[in-house]
Amino acid sequence: MTTTINRRTFLAASAAAGLSLAAPAIHAASKDKKYRTAIIGCGWWGMNILRSAIAAGQLDVVAMCDVDRRFLDPAAEEVNKLCGQTPRRYADYRELLAKEKPEITIVATPDHWHALAMIAAVKAGAHVYVEKPISHTILEGKAMVRAARDAGRVVQVGTHRRISPHNVSGREFILSGKIGKIGMVRAFVHYAGGPEKPKKNMEPPKGLDWDMWCGPAPLRPYSGDPQNPWTGGIHPRGFRGYLDYANGTLGDWGIHWMDQILWITDQKWPRRVFSVGGRPIKGPPLLTAEEQTTDAPDHQIATYQFDGFDVSWEHRHFAGNNAEKGESVGCYFYGDKGTFHMGWKDGWTFYPADPKQPAIHEEPKLHKPDDQNIPELWADFLDAIKTGRRPVCDIELAYWSTNVSLLGMLSYKLGRSIEWDGEKTQCVGDPEANKLLKRDYRGEWEYPQA
Ligand SMILES: NC(=O)c1ccc[n+]([C@@H]2O[C@H](COP(=O)([O-])OP(=O)(O)OC[C@H]3O[C@@H](n4cnc5c(N)ncnc54)[C@H](O)[C@@H]3O)[C@@H](O)[C@H]2O)c1
Repeated sequence: MTTTINRRTFLAASAAAGLSLAAPAIHAASKDKKYRTAIIGCGWWGMNILRSAIAAGQLDVVAMCDVDRRFLDPAAEEVNKLCGQTPRRYADYRELLAKEKPEITIVATPDHWHALAMIAAVKAGAHVYVEKPISHTILEGKAMVRAARDAGRVVQVGTHRRISPHNVSGREFILSGKIGKIGMVRAFVHYAGGPEKPKKNMEPPKGLDWDMWCGPAPLRPYSGDPQNPWTGGIHPRGFRGYLDYANGTLGDWGIHWMDQILWITDQKWPRRVFSVGGRPIKGPPLLTAEEQTTDAPDHQIATYQFDGFDVSWEHRHFAGNNAEKGESVGCYFYGDKGTFHMGWKDGWTFYPADPKQPAIHEEPKLHKPDDQNIPELWADFLDAIKTGRRPVCDIELAYWSTNVSLLGMLSYKLGRSIEWDGEKTQCVGDPEANKLLKRDYRGEWEYPQA
């Protein structure tokens, strides 16, 4: 690959996947409109999005939905303080969509709910801002793209690094040819950590509808601790480590970096994937009537073969990464003129291959407290609605990126390599692997059709 990179057009890829050609145009709206807005999932990130949306104006927050009153009630009170509005409160998004008919809906539930909530929202007529990874399984994502196109609605995904100033300038730097021909990319997320102690299964607290929280996914016993959201159990936030509800660090964090790689190299999918990983530090996963642990790997290595270059992914929840200049997350793009680190809070840095040349660095421009660029992504979302164009993090782009992470997890679960045909959405000649492109839903919930 050169830095002018094998540029298949977006349209060609869309057509190849049979997703866009029959799509109706997105309908443009007037410039000064106030959108009737609703949110499904009022936890940590949902409220980050809603605060940015309120700050941007142009909306009435008409309704909020969460299956846990401990999050819904303070979130609704905060909205009232921020903008004086009194959104109606719901525990079931289906009721919200039917009664309120919002024009915009934010979906910031845990991953296993994204597909059903987003599809229901566009079918009810809303433009949607949905969080990454877009889906828990690959065929849910395909159904989400189809639903967005059929409804002619804008669907923006929260992969805000496509609009973050340093990621944009870093991409331009790479595309200008300054790092030369790219032969490989290494993406990584490393944090310190250690062995995991099982958490006691608990009665769901008052105000939480645990059955609805689990929804289409398996019903595990509840465990959680709002005071320790990252380590206290499944809910809040801890779902990332439980494979019934998410796809571990590759699904959670990896999607951001896989998205950067696809964006910068203009690729859509890898041809071959192989992943290994395990839990030598956290210990074996446990689920009994009394207690449970997470079950996602505590480290993972995945290799991806793309057209003209290879990608490796590594994550580790132990040891951190102090050895590599403290860069704990990001991607190294290795070109024949040097190494480019696309980072997060550490911006980007280019290390020329010629040791006599100085490194070139750019600082990020992120919003506190969580170092993100949601306001820019929200502004793009509104502009896409107004002008009828596709947003920068369009659902189809995030579908490709989510799939890279999900394919890594698929190979990890199978314990062997897979060959991927992105046009047909199939693992080549591999019925065992293709079974994992979807999963059975629980109870009344129906798996969405692509
Ligand atoms: N783009 C980013 O940088 C970024 C950062 C953080 C989180 N996220 C994404 O945001 C999503 C939410 O993550 P979080 O950390 O805010 O989790 P969280 O646990 O803090 O919040 C999720 C909320 O959804 C609620 N919920 C669960 N099922 C629901 C349902 N059926 N209907 C309504 N509400 C429901 C939960 O009760 C909880 O309050 C995840 O998909 C995550 O990947 C994205």
